[in-house]
Amino acid sequence: MLTLLTAFQNSVGRKLLTGVTGIALVLFLITHLSANLTLFAVPDPIDNADNVFNQYALFLKNLGWLLYVAEIGLAAIFLIHAYLGAAIWWRKRQARPEAYVVTASKGGASRQSFSSRTMIVSGLLLFVFMFMHLKTFKFGPGWNPADAGYTAILADGTQIRNLSKLTIEIFRDSLGYVLFYCGIMVMLAFHLRHGVWSALQSLGAMSKGAAPVVYTVAGLIGIAIALGFFVLPIWIYIVH
Ligand code: HEM
Repeated sequence: MLTLLTAFQNSVGRKLLTGVTGIALVLFLITHLSANLTLFAVPDPIDNADNVFNQYALFLKNLGWLLYVAEIGLAAIFLIHAYLGAAIWWRKRQARPEAYVVTASKGGASRQSFSSRTMIVSGLLLFVFMFMHLKTFKFGPGWNPADAGYTAILADGTQIRNLSKLTIEIFRDSLGYVLFYCGIMVMLAFHLRHGVWSALQSLGAMSKGAAPVVYTVAGLIGIAIALGFFVLPIWIYIVH
């Protein structure tokens, strides 16, 4: 606990914690994306509630109190990451209120990019997005099992939330939702492109020689994750 408090109080510790929490969030996103991509394989996601996408949600729900612990942990990681990211940006701004006119590097290749300069903007947008996203999906229709429109009873009597139906309907019926999600995923790509590299650098995961390769690979990982989330709403809108 003391180490965590110390980490909050000095700039190296804050950068390190931002990296660790960022990597944890990336791991969550990879799991979430993997579950989402199963929707591509479901033949009739509205009427056939007994599918792999809904079964995964049921598996999570059946974890019971363990799921609550994981969700509280995830929320804490998300809030710590957002707070520290904003605090780092604020301190930099206090130290140098005027933005540089030229952003060239003194030593090796500069890692300054559009992504790195807009981390606070993409971060804030993702923060707001998260509340809207949870309201739409996590606490949306069918969250209350009494909501018959989005609950289904399987052949073995198990009650299941028809999340695949909800997901398809949200994007199928609203171009606005599709465009909003795709816009946010572009911001996510920018955020992850710089964020993954920056986290690895803070954690000391690269030697000087490997830096250009790690920079490129980290950027590609970030963009691939965002791209996966980007294509699903478009596919649903066009195909369903
Ligand atoms: C096409 C894009 C996306 C779709 C269709 C989607 C869909 C969903 C669905 C259906 C749920 C409810 C799961 C359940 O209740 O079991 C959910 C939960 C969630 N989503 Fe997404 N999601 C997308 C993108 C994202 C992104 C980009 C993020 C983060 C930046 C995110 C973060 C979350 C979180 C934190 C939860 C709550 C997890 C939990 O408490 O168990 N989602 N999403």
